[in-house]
Amino acid sequence: AATGVLAAVPASLVVGGRSGTARAAESPFSVPLKVITPLKPARLAGHDFYRLTTREADVTLLPGTRTRIRSFNGAMSPLIVARRGRPVVIEQVNSLDVPFAMHLHGGHTPESSDGHPKNAVQPGERRVFRYPNEQRAATLWIHDHSHHSHAENIYRGLAATYLLTDDVEEGLPLPKGQYDVTLQLRDAKFGADGTLEWDLHDFEGRHTLLVNGSPRPYFEVAARKYRLRLVNTSNERPFLLQLGDGEEFTHIGTDGGLLPAPVPTRMLQLWPGERHEIVVDFGRYGVGRKLVLTNTYPYEGEAPEVMRFDVVRTAADPSGVPDALRPVPDLGTSSVEREFTLSFNPRTGEHLINDKPFDIDRVDIRPRLDATETWKITNADTQFGIPHSLHPHLDAFRILDRNGKPPAAGEAGLKDTVTVMAGESARIQLKFTDHEGLYMYHCHMLGHLQMGMMGQMHITR
Ligand code: C2O
Ligand code: CU
Repeated sequence: AATGVLAAVPASLVVGGRSGTARAAESPFSVPLKVITPLKPARLAGHDFYRLTTREADVTLLPGTRTRIRSFNGAMSPLIVARRGRPVVIEQVNSLDVPFAMHLHGGHTPESSDGHPKNAVQPGERRVFRYPNEQRAATLWIHDHSHHSHAENIYRGLAATYLLTDDVEEGLPLPKGQYDVTLQLRDAKFGADGTLEWDLHDFEGRHTLLVNGSPRPYFEVAARKYRLRLVNTSNERPFLLQLGDGEEFTHIGTDGGLLPAPVPTRMLQLWPGERHEIVVDFGRYGVGRKLVLTNTYPYEGEAPEVMRFDVVRTAADPSGVPDALRPVPDLGTSSVEREFTLSFNPRTGEHLINDKPFDIDRVDIRPRLDATETWKITNADTQFGIPHSLHPHLDAFRILDRNGKPPAAGEAGLKDTVTVMAGESARIQLKFTDHEGLYMYHCHMLGHLQMGMMGQMHITR
């Protein structure tokens, strides 16, 4: 039986696709995966320094075409590798003609560097962001948070991966170095000439799946174990991932880092904003085998293939997955309970939290620093069956239960984004620490966020 993140594919996922759009024109597995090499920081006294210029760039995504994207330093999907205890400072220079508010998703970040829309960097301006990296190892990512332009900015390419490592993780025998690979998954819609086509509402029309910016690539691997870090940077697309004919792989981590224990899995749901880390042992298959990673929930008219792993050589494999990975911290007993009801208003087209759309001049909740809270999140949209994914900034949480039942083993670690299907509910436990200030919580389906599904919390002592 599948032991994936949610027990089964919820029926409410099945929404009407658009007909008439043929499968993406490109043939799958015709381009190699681009393995992303980390950006090189300036190693300054006490921190690593990067300058990220957000600007338009022309790059090749589909073979034989050029695509204008919104880039960091001219590239799609760059990678930053950071170490716990060593701060990263990024100067962001905005050479776009739209505002940009840089946010480290999953980061335990002081308010002034968290990318609040009120601090958006205007065209031609610059701002310095400081990430203390005082949190456990995890796969994080950087994206825009400006209000109104974030969904399009992310769609047009402004998403970077940020790997934070620490001694605990490095002390484990998990695959390392070239066998630890980041895979940024997303969808897009291209015109015949390679133009990225953007329509906030046509999320089911984005039939081209990109991995690290390449359409349905192949990846030549050695017959041994790999650690794969899956990051979904799509605006709205969930991936329901399966390998080969339902091969088993090992789920080792989620948004907030390693799980308490590895979970053998055959199917994983990866919602927008979420991360999963898995270990796949290609040594089981031997040289010559090709395994396709598929999305078992394609929209109507599109191909399910995401990418292919081609086992092409042998290699020594000293790596392993220990039986215990990383315990979840004890957050104590909750002294505050809050409820968040997520809904859609078909009359206005707005997505609402507790019946209200986002208002930058309104503070919705006032959590106290170091107080443990329980949040009950209810997706009340039974009419249209729209899923929602709640993401509070500043600190990761743990899932207490879903519809009153304990979470599956693959959801037993620290999370920062939780998807709740229509008509369902989840309770999470969280505690905000260290940083006071104004932070956001919102749905990570970016169209919903743009249509109002965000609130503000003012965290104080
Ligand atoms: Cu991925 Cu408010 O962020
Ligand atoms: Cu939503």
